[in-house]
Amino acid sequence: MSTTEPTTATSPDAANHEADICKIDGVTFNYGNRVALNDVSFSASRGQTIALIGQSGAGKTTLLRIIAGMLTPTSGTVSLYGEQPSEIRDASRRTRLVGMMQQRLDLVPQLSARHNAEAGMLGRWSLWRSLAGLALPLKHGPAEDALARVGLAGRGTERVSKLSGGEQQRVAMARLLVQDPEVIVADEPVASLDPDLANELIVLLKSIAKERGRTVFASVHDPRLAIAHFDRVIGLRESDVQFDLAADEVTSEHLQSLYERFNGAERDGAATEMERPLWGI
Ligand SMILES: Nc1ncnc2c1ncn2[C@@H]1O[C@H](COP(=O)(O)OP(=O)(O)OP(=O)(O)O)[C@@H](O)[C@H]1O
Ligand SMILES: [Mg+2]
Repeated sequence: MSTTEPTTATSPDAANHEADICKIDGVTFNYGNRVALNDVSFSASRGQTIALIGQSGAGKTTLLRIIAGMLTPTSGTVSLYGEQPSEIRDASRRTRLVGMMQQRLDLVPQLSARHNAEAGMLGRWSLWRSLAGLALPLKHGPAEDALARVGLAGRGTERVSKLSGGEQQRVAMARLLVQDPEVIVADEPVASLDPDLANELIVLLKSIAKERGRTVFASVHDPRLAIAHFDRVIGLRESDVQFDLAADEVTSEHLQSLYERFNGAERDGAATEMERPLWGI
């Protein structure tokens, strides 16, 4: 697996350097009466990597699904390269613009790792080519390359149902690499991986962002990973952006206040032993 440190992104188009190439503007989202996001705004440039952190229920998945166009905001807008992702009806256009690795991996367990990774090409391939891919003998191609990059070289023929949770997570990342959208959205992409592998896969995501000029939005459970590897860290708390900082500006005080638990209307300020070591930065 490649763990090469990224180089600076070079864009063929000067306009792509605009700071607001991805713009989240006043986004509110309600599930019925429940407010999941409350007037969230920020923007990102090409090649920038942005980590979302915050407690369970803070709104990370909801925000990522909105950026990916899977949910339409109750109010506010998302603009990626000038397009509103939830408005794009053409699957192929949407696939090229934005791709999402979901918190609950949506792999097809009965199919091989390679066939799952190849699903990243759906929307670019014709229906015939997609069906032929299921029937024809396995051939080396983009899916095998992507599997190799996530540390699953030579495992393409194995059924996903027989892979471990962490291996399945890597297949889902390989599928995203094959899809290669302009904007990469990843919900807890390294949640069930051991720390070394989690580190390597985050470095891989970062490399892709910098080499290919892809903008990455990812929710990350461990703030240390977010701070060590991402350009920016956005702390979400109770549906709101609590902070939006360059990674090297995030302090343990920011994290303490982000992860502090509410006790009714009062903050009790007590962190669990599970949480406290995560602040050790
Ligand atoms: N389908 C749904 N229907 C109703 N409420 C929902 C639904 N999905 C999420 N919510 C609520 O919206 C809020 C934000 O949820 P979300 O899944 O975005 O949080 P999260 O930050 O991703 O949490 P986690 O870290 O546990 O994945 C929570 O209060 C959650 O209970
Ligand atoms: Mg979530």
